[in-house]
Amino acid sequence: MKKVEAIIKGNDFERVKNALKQVGIVPLTAYPVQGRGVQGGVPPYDLLPKIKIELVVKDEDLENVIDVIIMSARSGTPGDGKIFVLPVEDAIRIRTGERGNEALY
Ligand SMILES: Nc1ncnc2c1ncn2[C@@H]1O[C@H](COP(=O)(O)OP(=O)(O)OP(=O)(O)O)[C@@H](O)[C@H]1O
Ligand SMILES: [Mg+2]
Repeated sequence: MKKVEAIIKGNDFERVKNALKQVGIVPLTAYPVQGRGVQGGVPPYDLLPKIKIELVVKDEDLENVIDVIIMSARSGTPGDGKIFVLPVEDAIRIRTGERGNEALY
């Protein structure tokens, strides 16, 4: 399992969310964040508002999820966002006790 952390522009959030749903990836966590990339903020703002999406996916779905996010969030200009991928040790669905891939979606 992998955790995908995608920091994207707020304007792209609906499109990314819908595109993930289209390929069967429904569960996610999202929240507003503030951040800066290599260019720093845009004066006078040191940090700019973004949306962070977190989702834990099966290893076999990882590349597809990355492609979907890129296709729905890329404009080709600075600030399109960034995706981080982290290993995940385990997942547990509290209702059933299922573990690992079974607990994801
Ligand atoms: N190395 C990093 N560590 C943590 N957060 C980051 C990092 N790089 C980018 N971010 C987060 O991602 C957001 C979007 O980054 P951004 O798209 O500007 O990346 P970039 O590397 O500057 O690429 P670009 O040149 O396309 O703008 C930032 O506002 C910040 O929240
Ligand atoms: Mg940047």
